[in-house]
Amino acid sequence: MKVKNIKSFIDFYRYMGISTCISSIPRSVKNEKQLKNSKKKELNINEKLVKNKKNSLEVLKKEIKSCECGLKDIATNFVFSDGKQDSNVMVIGEAPGAEEDKIGKPFVGQAGKLLDKMLLFIGLDRKTNFYITNLVFWRPPGNRTPNRQEIEICLPFTKKHIEIIKPKLLILLGNVASQSILKTKEGINIIRDKDNFYEDELSKMKIPVKATFHPAYLLRNPYEKKKMWDDLLKINAYISKNNLI
Ligand code: URA
Repeated sequence: MKVKNIKSFIDFYRYMGISTCISSIPRSVKNEKQLKNSKKKELNINEKLVKNKKNSLEVLKKEIKSCECGLKDIATNFVFSDGKQDSNVMVIGEAPGAEEDKIGKPFVGQAGKLLDKMLLFIGLDRKTNFYITNLVFWRPPGNRTPNRQEIEICLPFTKKHIEIIKPKLLILLGNVASQSILKTKEGINIIRDKDNFYEDELSKMKIPVKATFHPAYLLRNPYEKKKMWDDLLKINAYISKNNLI
């Protein structure tokens, strides 16, 4: 189109009182073919990212399995993760229990069932929109709390795990996961009331964190469930506001 014609179009629209035009096609895309190609490229990039994530997780698994954590010689199974790898929400617990050790998946016992029920209440379902793991990858004998050495060995792998998944929200369950990942000595009752961030200098990540009670604690102290519901409502509001699921 000639410049003269464009000008007369603009004058005509101005005369009609139209001052703004919103195009459905980005200015940088000149025609249908280019639009299709740019969408195709976007899909390819997403496919590649998903593939990369899968590969990185496989490499991470191998690295963890060859680490020096004493728990791996006592446990029946290595317990890595469950849920959707491309989720915006990543949940981290403490360590596998008896059922998890038997099956090789996190949060499949009584505490896991309670957690699933509570998270479903705010639309979180591990089959579709969240990813779940533990700070420690093997069951400590008798379900004891993992000791300092075990945590120190596993924590760098958990950090790498977070780096690979790249969640937009981290939900930490209980004292042990929260204190280790947030590098604090404060208890969960204090941490859960704060706006926390997981920051990692190496990967330059800064991820918002919601810390709450461990479901196993709630099974032992059911009167604390009210506080957990309060936390879930806050998590739900954050997820909705940021379109995370
Ligand atoms: N408790 C945890 O912290 N993780 C599990 O996988 C099960 C129970």
